[in-house]
Amino acid sequence: MANPEVQRIQQMLEEQGYITDRSIATSIYLAMRLGKPLLVEGPAGVGKTEIAKVMASALKTDLIRLQCYEGLDATTALYEWNYQRQLLYLKMEEHSDRSVEEKEATIFSEPFLLKRPLLQAITHHRAPVLLIDELDRADQEFESFLLEVLSDWQITIPEIGTIKATHIPYVVITSNRTRELSDALRRRCLYLWIDYPSFEKELAIVHTKVPGLEERLARQICGFMQIVRRLHLEKVPGIAETLDWAAALLALHRDHLDQATIEETLGVIFKHQEDAQQMKSKWLGPVLQELRALEEGGGEWNQSALVEIGQRLGARRSSTTGI
Ligand SMILES: Nc1ncnc2c1ncn2[C@@H]1O[C@H](COP(=O)(O)OP(=O)(O)OP(=O)(O)O)[C@@H](O)[C@H]1O
Ligand SMILES: [Mg+2]
Repeated sequence: MANPEVQRIQQMLEEQGYITDRSIATSIYLAMRLGKPLLVEGPAGVGKTEIAKVMASALKTDLIRLQCYEGLDATTALYEWNYQRQLLYLKMEEHSDRSVEEKEATIFSEPFLLKRPLLQAITHHRAPVLLIDELDRADQEFESFLLEVLSDWQITIPEIGTIKATHIPYVVITSNRTRELSDALRRRCLYLWIDYPSFEKELAIVHTKVPGLEERLARQICGFMQIVRRLHLEKVPGIAETLDWAAALLALHRDHLDQATIEETLGVIFKHQEDAQQMKSKWLGPVLQELRALEEGGGEWNQSALVEIGQRLGARRSSTTGI
């Protein structure tokens, strides 16, 4: 039976519009309970970043986000001195009789500090959610530095001294696996893998995020997505694309899928010319035909039936092209 605290987390997340299952809710609960960072990996657009956002709203606390990129260094993540303010201060003090040491002590004190996300998180007045987004994009050195921060929860600024965390933040780290994160980092975290959603989960997400969509159209959209994710594409569409597409079809006042509608809106789902082209020339007809057969046959719209269709179509293409 589900732990009541896990159920409560699941309910809190769902109240924020985040559809979740017991395993995701359990990971979040344990990360919070054990005070460990939650490392979330998975393909693009499956709701990794969103976890941190909804956690912050559910806990009614602030979200502090550190977006990682190649070349991100410790200084940018921690703090910088506000040079302009320092210069202005020195200019104003040009003719004062304060000693150089006094002026120096002033311009290297806290009011002249520009707090960057890690320092902000450590000095926040209550435990925030600290989102370290797409850590795989940062360099290995930055990861090692981060490990230190995550274990000590203190930061030393040579001119000021050591600042200890007032409240330990809830940490969510996400990665798209463009490179493997170190074992040392993994050891410190609890791990959560989020895959593409099942048909049922995606349908619930669509209904939550795009209210007003006809049930039939919502099912067709999610069924379509389940099938195309099994085809051989450059970039498999995530939930983000499903939601955009649903919103686009709603804006176009459509209540069901047809070939022309899909062709007109392909750019919402497929972001590579090759994928859009392949869909148009090869897949659209067969996928629509399968969906229609499913509807007319009164067959069940469930995950396994749709996966089976996708795999069958995918295999058909492989055998004809010899891939
Ligand atoms: N379980 C869910 N419930 C509700 N909405 C969801 C869920 N999962 C994803 N979404 C929605 O899907 C979209 C994409 O989610 P998000 O940006 O978190 O993906 P991501 O995994 O961080 O993607 P990327 O790797 O591209 O950064 C968001 O609009 C989010 O609201
Ligand atoms: Mg993200």
